[in-house]
Amino acid sequence: MLNWDNPLTPSKPASKANTGAAEQAAPGSTPSEKLADAFSSYASSNALMDQPARAVEATAPAVAPANTGISFDDTPAAPAEVVREEAPVAPTAAVKPVTGDAMAGMFTEQMGVTGKVMTAVNSNDKRVINGQGDVNQLAPFKYPWAWEYFLNANKNHWTPLDINMAQDVHDYNHTLTDSEKHVYENVLAYLTTSDILAMRNIGLAVMEKMTAPELQIYQARQVYEEALHTWTYQHCIETLGLDQAEIYNRYRVVPEINQKIQVANRRLEDVMRSDMDLTNQDDLNSFVMSYMFFSGIFEGSWFYNGFTPIFSLQRRGLMKGTSEQLQYIMRDEVMHASFGIRVVKQILLENEVRLDPKAIRQMWDESEAAEAGYARYILRDPILGYNADDHIEQFRFIANRRARQLGLEEPFPGAQSRTPWLDEQANMKKEKNFFETRVTEYQTGGALKWD
Ligand SMILES: [Fe+2]
Ligand SMILES: [Fe+2]
Repeated sequence: MLNWDNPLTPSKPASKANTGAAEQAAPGSTPSEKLADAFSSYASSNALMDQPARAVEATAPAVAPANTGISFDDTPAAPAEVVREEAPVAPTAAVKPVTGDAMAGMFTEQMGVTGKVMTAVNSNDKRVINGQGDVNQLAPFKYPWAWEYFLNANKNHWTPLDINMAQDVHDYNHTLTDSEKHVYENVLAYLTTSDILAMRNIGLAVMEKMTAPELQIYQARQVYEEALHTWTYQHCIETLGLDQAEIYNRYRVVPEINQKIQVANRRLEDVMRSDMDLTNQDDLNSFVMSYMFFSGIFEGSWFYNGFTPIFSLQRRGLMKGTSEQLQYIMRDEVMHASFGIRVVKQILLENEVRLDPKAIRQMWDESEAAEAGYARYILRDPILGYNADDHIEQFRFIANRRARQLGLEEPFPGAQSRTPWLDEQANMKKEKNFFETRVTEYQTGGALKWD
């Protein structure tokens, strides 16, 4: 059963509420070598959203075992049952991030005159940010869950060419009403701009600040996935013969789309600065707020809820190819949001971050206002079975869920789910015939022609 709504168990007071470290028993994954079964078990990825940040391992764990089964949860295959006590975390104020020259210096220190490495890497030296471990050495892992995210992300592999869009071309040209076309086009226009922004955020502003390679490796995959999402929207736009220049420019000329992009861009600009120093309290707070926004709201709420208008068409048998594409994207986004929330909580566990409740409240309020304006624009005329009020209330409902996962108070108490079928989209019941419905075959490495 779906389990999207289980609150996390916060273990610390509000200022550190996001650092719930109590381990919850992960729902049993069902290792299976059949991809179909794995996709069916994607519901378990919900657990990944609902688990608190796992306690940091006190000792270097063994290298994560090979992942023989395929499942979408983030539970490490074997070590999941091993709950390790949280390692004492040293104060961070004086610790400088290990990047660039500092890394080179550290490396030199570890080398003797013979050129041999003098000291072994200790996983306890790793930190999410401001760490002093060797950022070029993957194992021993300190955050094996991050490696599991990477392994699981690779199981949701598709390209937009896999999905047949022929019926969508017919639906768009012959069946959709003007109001439905307005919804469809503007959702695509918003999403495609957003995904580029998401790619720039994780690839240019976040990755470089991580000081544990297992975190960076998942984020590298995330960067690829954001690019893949952009390709997917482009494929839809191109296949339907929409005016590309006009669609891609909409976020600049439609204030209601622009508002959402501006909110996100401001968070990105807050942290994409060359003089950013995460040992500085203000910069650290900005970084945490930005990561919280991108994982909890931008990906976790806006994206998650952003596919809904098109899914509502799918439920009436329309634009099913596009909807299937979006279902694959939604899976990725669920993992991005979940991973980001987990990273944020780990940062809060390892660092003295003083979150300002007013700033958090403001974050929810401006996100709600931007989402409401957007919803009233794209759904200025309700479409059958879906209207702007549904969209806005669903945003509030999902935002409450993300807040709980972050260990924060619900920003919109009492919000009700207007689209109870939305969570099922992430689980995509049709995956059992995924391979039968693919319209292209993947080439294996040996089959590729390189010249
Ligand atoms: Fe994306
Ligand atoms: Fe994403």
